[in-house]
Amino acid sequence: MNILQIDSSILGDHSTTRQLTAAIAARLQAAAPGAQVTYRDLAAAPLPQFTAAPGAMDAAALSLALEQVLAADVIVIGAPLYNFSVPSQLKSWLDALAVPGKTFQYGASGPEGLLGAKRVIVASARGGIYTPGTPMASLDHQENYLKSFFGFLGVNQLEIVRAEGLKVSDEVRAQALASAFEQIAQLQAA
Ligand SMILES: Cc1cc2nc3c(=O)[nH]c(=O)nc-3n(C[C@H](O)[C@H](O)[C@H](O)COP(=O)(O)O)c2cc1C
Repeated sequence: MNILQIDSSILGDHSTTRQLTAAIAARLQAAAPGAQVTYRDLAAAPLPQFTAAPGAMDAAALSLALEQVLAADVIVIGAPLYNFSVPSQLKSWLDALAVPGKTFQYGASGPEGLLGAKRVIVASARGGIYTPGTPMASLDHQENYLKSFFGFLGVNQLEIVRAEGLKVSDEVRAQALASAFEQIAQLQAA
């Protein structure tokens, strides 16, 4: 089993999603001891933003990002909520993945995703509360975006490990973290 672990938080050792992706990768590895983990830190080594300027895009870096995804069985993504969306570093990585003929194609009945066999686990952390049905839910352009994006690429097994309300109070934060680590303990092995 190949695991691709992606971090994108700018908060280094203070990051919640970094703790969660590490725990998820450890949980998957414990269940499948031969599993290989490929790690990318998008905050430390960001991909370039898209531009049409000639020669400005690092084709090798974009191609490596795509190849790592194509080689992965499980993709673990640390996705903080920053300003109601994902960090721009994570967006740049996603931009490298939407490649016609590789991750999706247009067939007779419209777009077809090509990543269907992969499992995606999103480690989501947010300061407020955006769960469906709550007053701020319509401002969630993070989990919803990732679900839509990977759904378009054909992924039908996307799981969310969520720690939210981290800035609400110490009590809510502690409960959110305990809940997230419990979700990780309950993840299916493969
Ligand atoms: C630049 C920045 C923007 C943020 N924007 C939001 C936001 O729009 N809504 C929210 O609920 N929390 C927001 N937060 C709080 C983060 O979601 C929270 O700190 C979370 O733990 C981030 O994940 P991380 O610790 O892995 O970086 C923001 C934090 C930062 C650093």
